[in-house]
Amino acid sequence: MKRIHTIAKMQHQSDAWRSAGLCIGLVPTMGFLHEGHLSLVDHSLKAADRTVVSIFVNPLQFGPKEDFAIYPRDLERDLNLLSRRGVDAVFHPATAEFYPADFSTFVEVEKLSKSLCGPFRPGHFRGVATVVTKLFTAVKPHLAVFGQKDYQQAAVIRRLVRDLNLDLRVVVAPTVREADGLAMSSRNILLSPAERQRAAALYEALTMGRKRIERGERDAGRIIAEMRAHIERALDGSIDYIAIARADTLEEVAHIAGPVVIALAVRLSNVRLIDNIVAAPCGR
Ligand code: PAF
Repeated sequence: MKRIHTIAKMQHQSDAWRSAGLCIGLVPTMGFLHEGHLSLVDHSLKAADRTVVSIFVNPLQFGPKEDFAIYPRDLERDLNLLSRRGVDAVFHPATAEFYPADFSTFVEVEKLSKSLCGPFRPGHFRGVATVVTKLFTAVKPHLAVFGQKDYQQAAVIRRLVRDLNLDLRVVVAPTVREADGLAMSSRNILLSPAERQRAAALYEALTMGRKRIERGERDAGRIIAEMRAHIERALDGSIDYIAIARADTLEEVAHIAGPVVIALAVRLSNVRLIDNIVAAPCGR
Protein backbone atom coordinates (compact mmCIF):
# COMPACT_ATOMS: atom_id res chain seq x y z
CA MET A 1 0.00 0.00 0.00
CA LYS A 2 1.38 3.39 -0.99
CA ARG A 3 1.47 6.22 1.53
CA ILE A 4 1.15 9.57 -0.19
CA HIS A 5 1.62 12.85 1.66
CA THR A 6 1.63 15.58 -0.98
CA ILE A 7 -0.99 16.78 -3.45
CA ALA A 8 1.47 16.68 -6.38
CA LYS A 9 2.43 13.04 -5.70
CA MET A 10 -1.22 12.06 -5.33
CA GLN A 11 -2.15 13.73 -8.61
CA HIS A 12 0.83 12.11 -10.33
CA GLN A 13 -0.21 8.64 -9.10
CA SER A 14 -3.84 9.18 -10.14
CA ASP A 15 -2.77 10.44 -13.57
CA ALA A 16 -0.72 7.25 -14.04
CA TRP A 17 -3.67 5.07 -13.05
CA ARG A 18 -6.00 7.03 -15.32
CA SER A 19 -3.57 6.72 -18.25
CA ALA A 20 -3.56 2.96 -17.71
CA GLY A 21 -7.38 3.03 -17.99
CA LEU A 22 -7.95 2.17 -14.31
CA CYS A 23 -11.02 3.31 -12.38
CA ILE A 24 -10.17 5.10 -9.10
CA GLY A 25 -12.36 4.96 -6.00
CA LEU A 26 -11.90 7.42 -3.11
CA VAL A 27 -13.04 6.95 0.48
CA PRO A 28 -12.57 10.25 2.34
CA THR A 29 -12.14 9.80 6.11
CA MET A 30 -10.85 11.62 9.16
CA GLY A 31 -9.20 8.42 10.40
CA PHE A 32 -9.70 6.42 13.61
CA LEU A 33 -11.31 3.87 11.39
CA HIS A 34 -14.06 1.46 12.38
CA GLU A 35 -16.16 -1.17 10.60
CA GLY A 36 -18.35 1.61 9.14
CA HIS A 37 -15.35 3.07 7.29
CA LEU A 38 -14.18 -0.38 6.25
CA SER A 39 -17.57 -1.10 4.70
CA LEU A 40 -17.11 2.07 2.57
CA VAL A 41 -13.66 0.78 1.62
CA ASP A 42 -15.20 -2.57 0.62
CA HIS A 43 -17.69 -0.73 -1.64
CA SER A 44 -14.81 1.00 -3.38
CA LEU A 45 -12.70 -2.17 -3.64
CA LYS A 46 -15.62 -3.86 -5.41
CA ALA A 47 -16.51 -0.98 -7.73
CA ALA A 48 -13.08 0.41 -8.66
CA ASP A 49 -9.71 -0.92 -9.87
CA ARG A 50 -7.74 1.21 -7.41
CA THR A 51 -8.91 2.43 -3.98
CA VAL A 52 -7.51 5.48 -2.24
CA VAL A 53 -8.46 6.26 1.37
CA SER A 54 -7.77 9.79 2.53
CA ILE A 55 -7.05 10.41 6.20
CA PHE A 56 -7.24 14.07 7.12
CA VAL A 57 -8.80 15.62 10.23
CA ASN A 58 -10.15 18.71 8.55
CA PRO A 59 -9.88 21.76 10.85
CA LEU A 60 -12.21 23.73 8.58
CA GLN A 61 -15.27 21.69 9.51
CA PHE A 62 -14.90 22.11 13.28
CA GLY A 63 -16.28 25.15 15.08
CA PRO A 64 -14.03 26.99 17.60
CA LYS A 65 -15.77 25.25 20.53
CA GLU A 66 -15.88 21.83 18.91
CA ASP A 67 -13.78 18.70 19.41
CA PHE A 68 -10.98 19.14 16.82
CA ALA A 69 -8.25 18.87 19.49
CA ILE A 70 -9.65 15.70 21.07
CA TYR A 71 -10.90 14.08 17.86
CA PRO A 72 -9.50 10.52 18.14
CA ARG A 73 -6.45 9.76 15.99
CA ASP A 74 -4.38 6.59 15.49
CA LEU A 75 -2.60 6.67 12.14
CA GLU A 76 -0.53 3.49 12.57
CA ARG A 77 -3.58 1.43 13.45
CA ASP A 78 -5.50 2.92 10.49
CA LEU A 79 -2.66 2.13 8.08
CA ASN A 80 -2.56 -1.46 9.31
CA LEU A 81 -6.29 -1.93 8.89
CA LEU A 82 -6.25 -0.44 5.38
CA SER A 83 -3.24 -2.39 4.19
CA ARG A 84 -4.81 -5.66 5.39
CA ARG A 85 -8.06 -4.74 3.60
CA GLY A 86 -6.25 -4.39 0.25
CA VAL A 87 -6.34 -0.60 -0.19
CA ASP A 88 -3.95 0.67 -2.88
CA ALA A 89 -3.01 4.06 -1.42
CA VAL A 90 -3.56 6.20 1.65
CA PHE A 91 -3.52 9.94 1.05
CA HIS A 92 -2.54 11.74 4.25
CA PRO A 93 -1.84 15.38 3.41
CA ALA A 94 -0.30 17.88 5.80
CA THR A 95 -2.61 20.64 7.01
CA ALA A 96 -0.06 23.30 6.02
CA GLU A 97 -0.12 22.13 2.40
CA PHE A 98 -3.90 21.70 2.26
CA TYR A 99 -4.57 25.06 3.87
CA PRO A 100 -1.64 27.46 3.41
CA ALA A 101 -1.75 30.63 5.51
CA ASP A 102 -3.36 32.68 2.73
CA PHE A 103 -5.97 30.05 1.82
CA SER A 104 -9.12 31.94 0.86
CA THR A 105 -11.39 29.88 -1.42
CA PHE A 106 -14.40 28.05 0.00
CA VAL A 107 -17.20 25.94 -1.38
CA GLU A 108 -20.66 26.61 0.00
CA VAL A 109 -23.72 24.51 -0.83
CA GLU A 110 -26.50 26.84 0.20
CA LYS A 111 -29.99 25.48 0.98
CA LEU A 112 -29.07 21.90 1.88
CA SER A 113 -26.60 23.14 4.51
CA LYS A 114 -29.17 25.27 6.31
CA SER A 115 -31.51 22.73 7.96
CA LEU A 116 -30.90 19.89 10.46
CA CYS A 117 -27.24 20.18 11.68
CA GLY A 118 -26.72 23.50 9.85
CA PRO A 119 -27.88 25.92 12.57
CA PHE A 120 -26.03 23.97 15.30
CA ARG A 121 -22.70 23.81 13.43
CA PRO A 122 -22.27 27.10 11.57
CA GLY A 123 -19.62 26.74 8.86
CA HIS A 124 -19.46 22.95 9.19
CA PHE A 125 -20.82 22.08 5.75
CA ARG A 126 -18.76 24.82 4.12
CA GLY A 127 -15.72 23.14 5.68
CA VAL A 128 -16.83 19.71 4.48
CA ALA A 129 -17.68 20.90 0.94
CA THR A 130 -14.34 22.70 0.67
CA VAL A 131 -12.18 19.82 1.86
CA VAL A 132 -14.07 17.27 -0.23
CA THR A 133 -13.64 19.42 -3.35
CA LYS A 134 -9.91 19.62 -2.61
CA LEU A 135 -9.73 15.86 -2.06
CA PHE A 136 -11.47 15.36 -5.40
CA THR A 137 -8.96 17.56 -7.24
CA ALA A 138 -6.04 15.85 -5.50
CA VAL A 139 -7.18 12.25 -5.96
CA LYS A 140 -9.12 12.64 -9.24
CA PRO A 141 -11.44 9.72 -8.45
CA HIS A 142 -14.09 8.25 -10.77
CA LEU A 143 -16.22 7.46 -7.73
CA ALA A 144 -16.28 8.52 -4.10
CA VAL A 145 -17.95 6.62 -1.27
CA PHE A 146 -19.67 8.25 1.73
CA GLY A 147 -21.78 6.82 4.56
CA GLN A 148 -25.49 7.33 5.04
CA LYS A 149 -24.89 8.04 8.73
CA ASP A 150 -23.93 11.54 7.57
CA TYR A 151 -27.10 11.89 5.50
CA GLN A 152 -26.95 15.67 5.20
CA GLN A 153 -23.26 15.59 4.32
CA ALA A 154 -23.95 13.06 1.54
CA ALA A 155 -26.75 15.29 0.19
CA VAL A 156 -24.45 18.34 0.25
CA ILE A 157 -21.70 16.46 -1.60
CA ARG A 158 -24.08 15.06 -4.22
CA ARG A 159 -25.31 18.60 -4.86
CA LEU A 160 -21.82 20.08 -5.11
CA VAL A 161 -20.81 17.37 -7.60
CA ARG A 162 -23.91 18.14 -9.66
CA ASP A 163 -23.66 21.93 -9.45
CA LEU A 164 -19.94 22.09 -10.25
CA ASN A 165 -20.19 19.44 -13.03
CA LEU A 166 -17.58 17.28 -11.32
CA ASP A 167 -16.96 14.17 -13.36
CA LEU A 168 -17.37 11.51 -10.69
CA ARG A 169 -20.04 9.32 -9.14
CA VAL A 170 -21.04 9.70 -5.48
CA VAL A 171 -21.93 6.39 -3.81
CA VAL A 172 -23.73 6.43 -0.46
CA ALA A 173 -23.37 3.21 1.55
CA PRO A 174 -25.68 2.09 4.40
CA THR A 175 -24.93 2.94 8.03
CA VAL A 176 -23.09 0.20 9.92
CA ARG A 177 -24.38 -0.31 13.46
CA GLU A 178 -23.19 -1.91 16.69
CA ALA A 179 -25.18 -4.94 17.94
CA ASP A 180 -27.51 -2.66 19.96
CA GLY A 181 -28.17 -0.38 16.97
CA LEU A 182 -25.84 2.52 17.78
CA ALA A 183 -24.40 3.89 14.52
CA MET A 184 -20.65 3.32 14.34
CA SER A 185 -18.71 6.55 14.75
CA SER A 186 -15.14 7.47 15.62
CA ARG A 187 -16.62 9.60 18.42
CA ASN A 188 -18.23 6.60 20.21
CA ILE A 189 -14.85 5.95 21.90
CA LEU A 190 -15.27 9.27 23.76
CA LEU A 191 -18.46 8.06 25.53
CA SER A 192 -18.27 6.79 29.12
CA PRO A 193 -19.38 3.13 29.53
CA ALA A 194 -22.73 4.27 30.97
CA GLU A 195 -23.30 6.78 28.15
CA ARG A 196 -22.33 4.19 25.57
CA GLN A 197 -24.92 1.79 26.97
CA ARG A 198 -27.68 4.41 26.99
CA ALA A 199 -26.84 5.72 23.53
CA ALA A 200 -28.72 2.76 22.04
CA ALA A 201 -31.85 4.83 22.76
CA LEU A 202 -31.12 6.98 19.69
CA TYR A 203 -31.61 4.15 17.23
CA GLU A 204 -34.57 2.86 19.25
CA ALA A 205 -36.20 6.28 18.86
CA LEU A 206 -35.49 6.36 15.12
CA THR A 207 -36.97 2.90 14.53
CA MET A 208 -40.01 3.90 16.64
CA GLY A 209 -40.45 6.94 14.42
CA ARG A 210 -40.16 4.91 11.24
CA LYS A 211 -42.72 2.35 12.49
CA ARG A 212 -45.19 5.14 13.30
CA ILE A 213 -44.87 6.50 9.74
CA GLU A 214 -45.21 3.05 8.18
CA ARG A 215 -48.34 2.44 10.27
CA GLY A 216 -50.03 5.58 9.01
CA GLU A 217 -49.08 8.50 11.31
CA ARG A 218 -48.68 11.65 9.23
CA ASP A 219 -48.20 14.26 11.95
CA ALA A 220 -44.44 14.85 12.26
CA GLY A 221 -44.83 16.79 15.52
CA ARG A 222 -46.51 13.85 17.28
CA ILE A 223 -43.79 11.42 16.17
CA ILE A 224 -41.02 13.80 17.22
CA ALA A 225 -42.63 14.27 20.66
CA GLU A 226 -42.71 10.50 21.20
CA MET A 227 -39.10 10.12 20.09
CA ARG A 228 -38.03 12.97 22.35
CA ALA A 229 -39.81 11.40 25.35
CA HIS A 230 -38.08 8.07 24.65
CA ILE A 231 -34.63 9.65 24.49
CA GLU A 232 -35.19 11.84 27.54
CA ARG A 233 -36.34 8.80 29.57
CA ALA A 234 -33.25 6.83 28.53
CA LEU A 235 -30.43 9.31 28.85
CA ASP A 236 -29.23 12.47 30.43
CA GLY A 237 -28.11 14.28 27.29
CA SER A 238 -29.07 17.43 25.51
CA ILE A 239 -31.00 17.10 22.28
CA ASP A 240 -29.83 19.51 19.54
CA TYR A 241 -32.71 18.47 17.33
CA ILE A 242 -35.01 15.68 16.25
CA ALA A 243 -36.46 16.45 12.83
CA ILE A 244 -38.43 14.90 10.03
CA ALA A 245 -37.44 16.34 6.66
CA ARG A 246 -38.06 15.65 3.00
CA ALA A 247 -35.55 12.98 1.96
CA ASP A 248 -34.49 15.01 -1.12
CA THR A 249 -34.48 18.69 -0.10
CA LEU A 250 -33.98 18.20 3.67
CA GLU A 251 -36.75 20.75 4.35
CA GLU A 252 -38.50 19.94 7.60
CA VAL A 253 -42.13 18.88 7.24
CA ALA A 254 -45.12 19.08 9.56
CA HIS A 255 -47.19 16.65 7.49
CA ILE A 256 -45.59 13.50 6.05
CA ALA A 257 -46.64 12.99 2.43
CA GLY A 258 -43.63 11.23 0.84
CA PRO A 259 -40.19 9.81 1.62
CA VAL A 260 -38.57 11.50 4.62
CA VAL A 261 -35.42 11.32 6.65
CA ILE A 262 -35.85 11.20 10.41
CA ALA A 263 -32.67 12.75 11.76
CA LEU A 264 -31.34 13.65 15.18
CA ALA A 265 -28.34 15.04 16.98
CA VAL A 266 -27.81 14.53 20.71
CA ARG A 267 -25.00 15.63 22.98
CA LEU A 268 -23.80 13.27 25.72
CA SER A 269 -21.28 15.22 27.84
CA ASN A 270 -18.85 16.51 25.18
CA VAL A 271 -19.81 14.04 22.51
CA ARG A 272 -22.24 14.98 19.76
CA LEU A 273 -23.87 11.96 18.13
CA ILE A 274 -25.91 12.08 14.94
CA ASP A 275 -28.03 9.42 13.31
CA ASN A 276 -30.89 9.09 10.84
CA ILE A 277 -33.22 6.67 9.17
CA VAL A 278 -35.20 6.97 5.96
CA ALA A 279 -38.93 6.27 6.03
CA ALA A 280 -41.80 6.45 3.61
CA PRO A 281 -45.56 6.26 4.11
CA CYS A 282 -46.90 2.94 2.80
CA GLY A 283 -47.21 2.97 -0.99
CA ARG A 284 -45.11 6.16 -1.53
O1 PAF B 1 -17.35 12.17 7.11
C1 PAF B 1 -16.18 12.53 7.37
O2 PAF B 1 -15.39 11.79 7.98
C2 PAF B 1 -15.71 13.91 6.94
O3 PAF B 1 -16.73 14.84 7.05
C3 PAF B 1 -15.11 13.93 5.52
C4 PAF B 1 -16.11 13.55 4.46
C5 PAF B 1 -13.92 12.96 5.47
C6 PAF B 1 -14.58 15.34 5.21
O4 PAF B 1 -13.62 15.74 6.11
